Amino acid sequence: MDLLIKQSDALTGEVTVPGDKSISHRAVIFGSLAEGVSEFSNFLMGEDCLATLKALSDMGVKCSINGSKITIHGVGLRGLKPPTKSLNLGNSGTSARLLLGLLGAQKFNSNIKGDKSLSNRPMNRVMDPLRKMGMEFFSRNGKLPINILGNESLNEINYELTVPSAQVKSAIIIASIFANKNSKITENHVTRDHTERMMLAMNYPIFSDRDSISIEPGGKFDAINFQIPGDFSSSVFLIVACLISKNSSITIKNVGINPTRIGFLEIAKRMGADIKILNKKNLNKEPTADIQVISSVLRSIELNDRNLISSAIDEFPAIFILAAFAKGKSSFDGLNELRVKESDRIKSMAINLEELGIEVSEHENGIAITGGVMKGGEIECFGDHRVAMSFAAAGNSSKAKILIKDADSIITSFPEFVQKMRQINSLIEIK
Ligand code: S3P
Repeated sequence: MDLLIKQSDALTGEVTVPGDKSISHRAVIFGSLAEGVSEFSNFLMGEDCLATLKALSDMGVKCSINGSKITIHGVGLRGLKPPTKSLNLGNSGTSARLLLGLLGAQKFNSNIKGDKSLSNRPMNRVMDPLRKMGMEFFSRNGKLPINILGNESLNEINYELTVPSAQVKSAIIIASIFANKNSKITENHVTRDHTERMMLAMNYPIFSDRDSISIEPGGKFDAINFQIPGDFSSSVFLIVACLISKNSSITIKNVGINPTRIGFLEIAKRMGADIKILNKKNLNKEPTADIQVISSVLRSIELNDRNLISSAIDEFPAIFILAAFAKGKSSFDGLNELRVKESDRIKSMAINLEELGIEVSEHENGIAITGGVMKGGEIECFGDHRVAMSFAAAGNSSKAKILIKDADSIITSFPEFVQKMRQINSLIEIK
């Protein structure tokens, strides 16, 4: 599937975005470990979350889907069954990393595999701490496919996170549920805390303060009825499209605004963005709100703040589009994690921005982007959903049409993207 975006006049309207991807993954895992039947509404029916759902159903968990609601019949902490085949996790890094923490603690062996991109992503960052707890993994170069030898008797861990990654933290938290004694994790920078919040919402004994988390093993997850907020990271493509378009104003309703996720708001505001947060409320320990956006004149930014970067980690492709439309030269440093996402996001964005006439200079840990006139042209997604959606957002305001080649990856996180963009008057077509 290719996407063609033509310049549109004004973007306007009120929209919602599908459920949060990170929270949807955790819903499947903790719903499966719960005792009783849980219901999660506004579940993200994207390929990544469906890969986690398929993996758990391959281990005997009964789930049913009704529209965007999933019902999960929890099997308790020790109720998973051995899968009869390798678990295929497609493109999903979150599925792979979180499930390593779960599978290594089972009474059975298993194997996980994924697509080409996932099979190139680093897994030692998760396997190293999990091995310290007594888990056993076999892989080539620390990449998928991975054979997992189940071990039901795990040691506790006292671990300081060396990589700023919620996936690593969450894998260790999940493993700690199955350890012999209490475990403790310390982090030096902010990473998303949906795991901790959902465990608390399900009354699991986990305690967290600013930078440390302790987990009691062998606790119980109460079944829950949980409404998943809209995915802030998906909303960002609509926000960016609106900010850089003339005479535009949109409102995105019921979006998750967990403080560990909204670094983008701070960055965009520093660049001059007019964004308001309205109608704040809490849904099962996750804050949500409506986001009102108005077209803005943007200025460049210099960014190297690790905490801000970590809380905007998935938003950089979209932030680079803001920089391309801003006045002046923006510089971004400390972005090494972007090199190991669904694609090397520094490189994927640099190649495409240059193709569209924007001056960029890439370096090992970052990039400088000089705002200018974006011409039209053809871009490559490198199999990366966020690269595709960032250029779709840009296409509303570029000088000529942008054709995004092979954009199928958007179904991993935002299957209704084209429909939602049309709802705010974007001239986007599937080719
Ligand atoms: C995620 C954590 C982040 C993020 C990813 C989802 C999660 O990855 O980029 O899209 O759900 O825990 P890292 O943990 O590698 O930072």
